[in-house]
Amino acid sequence: MKIVLISSSLSLYSHSRAMLTRAENYFLTKGVETDLIDLRNIELEWCDGRPLENYNSSLQDAFQRIQSADGAVIASPVYCYSVSGVLKNFIDICHKAFAEKYFAVIIAGGGDYSFMVTEQLKSILVLESRAFPLPRAVFANEKQFKNHQLNDAGVEKRLQQLADDLLRWIGESFK
Ligand SMILES: Cc1cc2nc3c(=O)[nH]c(=O)nc-3n(C[C@H](O)[C@H](O)[C@H](O)COP(=O)(O)O)c2cc1C
Repeated sequence: MKIVLISSSLSLYSHSRAMLTRAENYFLTKGVETDLIDLRNIELEWCDGRPLENYNSSLQDAFQRIQSADGAVIASPVYCYSVSGVLKNFIDICHKAFAEKYFAVIIAGGGDYSFMVTEQLKSILVLESRAFPLPRAVFANEKQFKNHQLNDAGVEKRLQQLADDLLRWIGESFK
């Protein structure tokens, strides 16, 4: 079983990446293999509708890593009440890699009222990729961090539940 983790924030002190890393650590304690794709390390290009083979090898490699995983966890910042443009552009290029895959969503926002972005990200991947979103997602705002480290036991617990849910759903789908 391998879970691909996609961190889409390009921020140095990213809260969404901090949450994703917590989830990754939890997967590792359960003996699950993980593969972290940090978009800061991918040579991003703009999506213009060309076929995947005409994008650079960094994006093609990311595509293959996603496609070869059994499930995915995607982390995004909230930008203007939506996911970041960086993530949307990446999904526009790599959306076929998510086809028929179970995925979970982690979102970091500034305020209290952006949690519905979790549903936007699910919709994008359901519509673009026919992927399967987990109903429960994890959202946290700036008050739940201290010095850019997660500082909220409730969010920590929800991240573990998210990881458990994903493993359970993938396990069920393999039966
Ligand atoms: C361009 C921009 C737009 C933002 N828009 C929102 C917003 O609409 N709602 C919100 O709650 N936070 C908003 N924020 C705050 C970010 O969601 C917050 O800083 C979050 O921690 C970013 O995730 P990251 O730390 O993983 O990069 C915005 C930040 C930026 C830079």
